[in-house]
Amino acid sequence: MRTLGIETSCDETAVAIYDSDDGIIGESIHSQMIMHAEYGGVVPELASRDHCLKIVDVLKDALGNHSINTIDQIAYTSGPGLVGALLIGEGFAQGLSTALNIPLIPVNHLEGHLMSPMMEFQEIKMPFICLLVSGGHSMIVDVVEKGDYKIIGQSQDDAVGEAFDKVAKLLGLPYPGGPYIEKLATEGDPNSYDFPRPMIHSDNLDMSLSGLKTSVLYKVQKIINLDHNKKANIAASFQKAVSDLLVAKITKAVKEINRKDVIIAGGVAANKFIRSEFKKLEDLLGIKVYYPDLKYCGDNASMIAFVGSMMNAKKRGKNTSQVRARWPLDELKK
Ligand code: KG4
Ligand code: ZN
Repeated sequence: MRTLGIETSCDETAVAIYDSDDGIIGESIHSQMIMHAEYGGVVPELASRDHCLKIVDVLKDALGNHSINTIDQIAYTSGPGLVGALLIGEGFAQGLSTALNIPLIPVNHLEGHLMSPMMEFQEIKMPFICLLVSGGHSMIVDVVEKGDYKIIGQSQDDAVGEAFDKVAKLLGLPYPGGPYIEKLATEGDPNSYDFPRPMIHSDNLDMSLSGLKTSVLYKVQKIINLDHNKKANIAASFQKAVSDLLVAKITKAVKEINRKDVIIAGGVAANKFIRSEFKKLEDLLGIKVYYPDLKYCGDNASMIAFVGSMMNAKKRGKNTSQVRARWPLDELKK
């Protein structure tokens, strides 16, 4: 059984093929990052237009020597995301599914992130806890079973990736800032500035990032000569504050709901410092922490094809639009 995955929810045009015997047998991704960088964030209209321009070539590249006729079903991201961008992927998926007369499966983008490490680590079994941290989302999810997802904690304001991007901007670093903060932080001392860890002691699993970002802003405004060393110290101290907050909330979640496996997914899961801080929890709590392969931390179509392969649609539905800008995980039906 072969599932073609299509992802266009934001600024990546991606196509992948998941084979139920051989795993991912083809994948291709075109990132629009450079195009949006000059605006300091994703421009939705430009994103849609670029998906239109690139999607056919990305499909051809993903297929390689595989014939499109070997595809059994098509899975595509139908939300959450930028509506205009999602519609390009959906229209393309519908066209292919009509032409090939094969089923079409709308997939929740967040579910793709949740499941992404399972492509590599077959030993992961549900239930598990997932910390999903990206540019648009920061949540702790109790993954009870396929389709049964309980959001047990989330950011009350900025997403973690968003906080990285905003702090990067304050330090004059390019967009998206997460990788640049991580790199700069390797030259800094994480204990040089005592930034707040908002809601770290709250009696729930929610968190807040905007106060931390504002605290970095005030600090940056007060520093007269913001040289490279001071920037590195700010980056390291900020990253440590974020990491402490996430580690504290996952520790609390593990103790409260007693899960043995923890998955960290989404763009921020690529951060090596955060990974190393979570590694320490394994012995401390007797858990195993999993991450997607680095290339699957950010948006990709392989995770969408993989989730689609678990759904195994029986017949082709109608070509009505399923696109949703908002699609909370706990609204997914089994
Ligand atoms: O999952 P993703 O590619 O896109 C969505 O938001 O869905 O995540 C992108 C976010 C950006 O905010 C980016 O700055 C952040 O993930 N990010 C990182 C790192 N790599 C990407 N944040 C911290 N450290 C990183 N190494
Ligand atoms: Zn994403």
